[in-house]
Amino acid sequence: MNMSDTTTVKDVAAGVPGATRVFENFGIDYCCGGHRTLVDACREASLPVEDLMRSLEEAARASQPGAERDWRQETLTSLAAHIIDKHHYFARQELDRLEKLFDKVCSRHGENHPELFGAQKTFYQLKHDLIPHMLKEEQVLFPHITRMEEAAGEGRPVPPPFFGTVRNPVRMMMTEHDTAGDLLKQLRGITKGYTPPPDGCVSFQTLYQALAGFEADLHQHIHLENNILFPRAIEAEETSAPDLYKSAGEFNKHRCFGH
Ligand SMILES: [Fe+2]
Ligand SMILES: [Fe+2]
Repeated sequence: MNMSDTTTVKDVAAGVPGATRVFENFGIDYCCGGHRTLVDACREASLPVEDLMRSLEEAARASQPGAERDWRQETLTSLAAHIIDKHHYFARQELDRLEKLFDKVCSRHGENHPELFGAQKTFYQLKHDLIPHMLKEEQVLFPHITRMEEAAGEGRPVPPPFFGTVRNPVRMMMTEHDTAGDLLKQLRGITKGYTPPPDGCVSFQTLYQALAGFEADLHQHIHLENNILFPRAIEAEETSAPDLYKSAGEFNKHRCFGH
């Protein structure tokens, strides 16, 4: 991939194998903050651009050809199914496990580490937001995207959805992603980058490790939606139903609040 001063983080995340792991390691937000240029992202992270480029090249070289699916080339239906089967499944499993771990660790260590209660409260908020968010995607937005793709494949128009244009639920989902991203940042701040204290027991360490894993997976999950699935769904609607597209000019004014 050729990179220039205007190349954005999300373009690299979608197009360079292994790039999301590199961004994760450097603490660069590639999902909700993916619209920034690489140059700006490096400046914000106080990171020399050359260091990032070297790591990206190494990651691309280390990736086996074909080991990572290029979601820009696959059908939207496959991508939506992958998001549900992999990321929604993982999120639900981990939200339950983390809730139990928080209960245990807070009851044992909360007295000496009151910051745990702040982290638990933030986690509850995240869980409270994510469960209905994923349900809306699974029951409303993703089935509509699949229907659009099927209709386009058969050369027939898709019946207009009750929400007008796909841009409306997409806008709502992206706003909710921003909120989830902010909550993850808060959790990272409260837990000092998920670093357990020296007196932390195995459960404490497990909790922080699980939180770090949850954060990494949610970043990847939101990246696939914000940077690949949603723009491609909007493009598909633009092609198959240009009238809907014309009446939704406000979408382009959306920006990722909080980043
Ligand atoms: Fe999702
Ligand atoms: Fe989502």
